[in-house]
Amino acid sequence: MIGYGELDMVCASAPAKVYFFGEHSVVYGKPAIAAAISLRTNVTVHSAPPSSHIYVNAPKRTSLERTPYVREVVMMLSKQYDIPTSGYWIDVQSEIPKAAGIGSSAALTVATIGAISSYFDIKLEPVEIASMGHAVERAVQGSASPTDTWISTFGGVYRIPERRRLSISEFIFVIGDTQETSSTKKLVGAVKTLKDNYPSIIGPLMDAMGALSDYGETLLVNGKLEEVGKLMNLNNSLLESLGVGTDALHKFVSVAISAGALGAKITGAGGGGCMVALSPSKDVAKNIANALEKCGGEVYVVKSTDIGLRLEV
Ligand code: MEV
Repeated sequence: MIGYGELDMVCASAPAKVYFFGEHSVVYGKPAIAAAISLRTNVTVHSAPPSSHIYVNAPKRTSLERTPYVREVVMMLSKQYDIPTSGYWIDVQSEIPKAAGIGSSAALTVATIGAISSYFDIKLEPVEIASMGHAVERAVQGSASPTDTWISTFGGVYRIPERRRLSISEFIFVIGDTQETSSTKKLVGAVKTLKDNYPSIIGPLMDAMGALSDYGETLLVNGKLEEVGKLMNLNNSLLESLGVGTDALHKFVSVAISAGALGAKITGAGGGGCMVALSPSKDVAKNIANALEKCGGEVYVVKSTDIGLRLEV
């Protein structure tokens, strides 16, 4: 057992995620397919004088009170394990755009749990980390998707809700962030209202989204990326039918397809935030990225990744 303060510094990182298929319909128990991507958040815990308050550098130095996810992790871990709430500093560096539908808060939460638990030598199984991560997100946001914290913890591509890991090769995605902010809670609420008002229309739309995940899983596993792209386009049309599109997302999706994407769609709750395009190659990804930059997007060329939560050396 390593005593407190014996480690000077521990760093952990965790990835963001995109949905191939099934956001919104997953809320109604339909299958979805989500993939971890190579944008990460790094959280470092440094030793500090024993009585000093926890400061979080994220990236501006700020007090723990102003960083709700980190604060909630510290509170939850200190309630369950005998660890102090002072005497260390936390540094956050993130490549993931915030509140943009690709799981920035889950990556921050999971990396923070990983870094602090390792700093204090608390042995947590990955499933415990994913579950605590979800509890932290729920405590901060009121409600949260367990998918985000699961994917951030484990990496890879998963079929949800079964959490079946799919054994498939690496993909190249181009992510376009419209930089319009959105609220997942509001959008999930608006879709619920639509479904309550028009169950015989919206119910079958949800079934169709679930079927896209079923077909998509088989196509992904068999490497049929052109077909996967077509189904992503179809999924995008269904998401737009639910009213979660915006003009910018619509434009970004069609620009990405014209620039050579196999398929493109809203990812996450929509109402702004990000879209994701599946690219057949690195060269085409550059074309897609250039085209999206011309539309005013913040653009990220990324790969799918098998690496979930990881301690950095
Ligand atoms: C948000 O990233 C995904 C949604 O399906 C909500 C959820 O799964 O909780 C819209």
